[in-house]
Amino acid sequence: MPEAIKGRQHDRQATGPAAATLLEARNIAKCFSHPNGTVTPAIGDIALSLAKGEFVAIVGPSGCGKTTLLRCLCGLLKPDSGTLSYAGKPVSDVPEDVAVVFQEYNRSLFPWLSVRRNVEFGLNKLSKTERRARAEEALTRVHLTDVIEHYPWQLSGGMQQRVAIARAVATQPNLLLMDEPFASVDAQTRIRLETMTASISTELGLATLLITHDIDEAVFLADRVIVLSPRPSSVLAEVVVDIPRPRTELEVKAMPRFQEYRRLIHDLIVAKQSDTPDVVDTPAPDGTEPERSP
Ligand SMILES: Nc1ncnc2c1ncn2[C@@H]1O[C@H](COP(=O)(O)OP(=O)(O)OP(=O)(O)O)[C@@H](O)[C@H]1O
Ligand SMILES: [Mg+2]
Repeated sequence: MPEAIKGRQHDRQATGPAAATLLEARNIAKCFSHPNGTVTPAIGDIALSLAKGEFVAIVGPSGCGKTTLLRCLCGLLKPDSGTLSYAGKPVSDVPEDVAVVFQEYNRSLFPWLSVRRNVEFGLNKLSKTERRARAEEALTRVHLTDVIEHYPWQLSGGMQQRVAIARAVATQPNLLLMDEPFASVDAQTRIRLETMTASISTELGLATLLITHDIDEAVFLADRVIVLSPRPSSVLAEVVVDIPRPRTELEVKAMPRFQEYRRLIHDLIVAKQSDTPDVVDTPAPDGTEPERSP
């Protein structure tokens, strides 16, 4: 087994007993039942954990169940079996100090609210002055103070995604979950957003779980990359990324070690994809044609 693939636990701030587990999933499985009686097995059996302050990326082939996993991890979706705990307690709803950023920023922002009001949304338990201060601080972190009174539709895609990140950060989460947050922006913007996310996560000591299908992005950002198999997904490998921080995109991507990690993860995904037949969903008892996975 290559040197980079190590045990489950890794914490960039501490290792051993001091590395407190924040999120833990044991033997999570999830199927979707369709009205015609067919069943899509999305997650086969997944066990993973995330320590306080750790940055973990999850990569896997398209349709393997990454979004389903993220929805289970944050309590938006109930797994069929297995256990989930956050900060030592079972997860039944989205915990208060967990924030989620989705890929479709244009669907997550309210077009009729200004940038400021979008970020203040969800902080309604705070006084007006506190809400304002939190929003301004979060928007400073994503370098958007100059468009604070603009509306989302007046901003570029990358700027809108920064507003979505500011909204997540303003809630002062301990865990930030991100589902392909940079997939809809151009390559230059993507690098800027990746670098900004790394800084925010380090500065705030945030545990971050990033779902991505971009192997370079995963290796550049993460302390540990969890590689998923095709669906019904399971963990193929966990790759500890031993590259010091702060990381600069050009420097890191030129490192032979970076190339080794990306090659290793790429080979794991491709090898598994080629030796796994397409999953055909369980047919309906009356013989109705089953729905195929995408
Ligand atoms: N709400 C749902 N109802 C029925 N089937 C679903 C539902 N959500 C996901 N699925 C199915 O579960 C499987 C996994 O979907 P999921 O969106 O989790 O994959 P993914 O890895 O995030 O895909 P992508 O790489 O395209 O983002 C797919 O076959 C999908 O069709
Ligand atoms: Mg997805």
